[in-house]
Amino acid sequence: MSDVRSAVRKVAVLGAGTMGNGIAQVCATAGMEVAMRDVEQAFLERGLAQIDKSLAKLHEKGALSEESRAAARARIRTTTDLKSAVEDADLVVEAIPERMALKIETFAFLGQHAPKHAILGTNTSSLSVTEIAAASGDPARVVGLHFFNPVPLMKLLEIVRGLGTADATIDTARAFAERIGKEPIVVKDFPGFATSRLGVILGVEAIRMLESGVASAEDIDKAMKLGYRHPMGPLELGDLVGLDVRLAILEHLHKELGEQFRPPALLRQMVRAGKLGRKSGEGFYKY
Ligand code: CAA
Repeated sequence: MSDVRSAVRKVAVLGAGTMGNGIAQVCATAGMEVAMRDVEQAFLERGLAQIDKSLAKLHEKGALSEESRAAARARIRTTTDLKSAVEDADLVVEAIPERMALKIETFAFLGQHAPKHAILGTNTSSLSVTEIAAASGDPARVVGLHFFNPVPLMKLLEIVRGLGTADATIDTARAFAERIGKEPIVVKDFPGFATSRLGVILGVEAIRMLESGVASAEDIDKAMKLGYRHPMGPLELGDLVGLDVRLAILEHLHKELGEQFRPPALLRQMVRAGKLGRKSGEGFYKY
């Protein structure tokens, strides 16, 4: 381990999807050089378009000067080549799909090709950080860096300590959170951590209530917004997060924690039909 960890200058973000492009954006806005990597050029272009939209919105609202907006954008480069994305990184943030086999393959690669001083972060919402870390061959420098959607607006960074994560890695993760303007919490590696476990249980009950005809999607959401002051109802939040993402988390938590997380048939059907929420144009609502 070296002191470079406390001074993250270059970040590689793996995945240009909803989470990846948001993470790239907040790192670039905080002054870090970012290499955003995805497997296809089209995914990178879509991610960059999202970043442009979000930066423009923040500028329009007075949260970012024109100079800072342009400078942040200029700090982001894109590539489809994994090796070139990570080979000079101080920090890698993995935000690829929630499949353990993919994470293992990626972290095995990172263990070989990322610089030895680099921190290796995973944005997994519920998978075992300890298992992902083992694949890297150097678990001391692997940590969960769990961001929330929409990344530029949400204040929380959930830092997940794997079984072998070094204290120095946690310290760097905390310093990184502060630098990008997030409020960190540090949690033990346990299925669903402190956030997804509670968030998902509300979402899954809302889907079951919809299935049993308790109320319309609009009214279930309205109930939580007006009755409990949630900023969004659980069904519209599912649409924001992505129903495929929700299903993947549920399948994992069902296996790890039991029946209360069993995915409802309605959710499976919607995902099979390609109704994934906002990103596909339809979920519980049409966009
Ligand atoms: N970048 C910049 N600006 C954005 C943005 C983005 N990515 N997304 C939204 N905005 C802007 C909106 O355009 C809007 O601008 P105007 O005021 O000019 O219209 C502004 O932010 C506020 O948005 P809204 O008017 O829609 O109102 P809001 O006050 O409800 O804020 C919200 C939106 C922050 C998304 C809020 O509804 C909220 O906090 N929702 C809950 C989100 C949440 O729970 N996220 C966690 C999901 S779980 C997860 O991500 C982790 C996981 O593991 C799956």
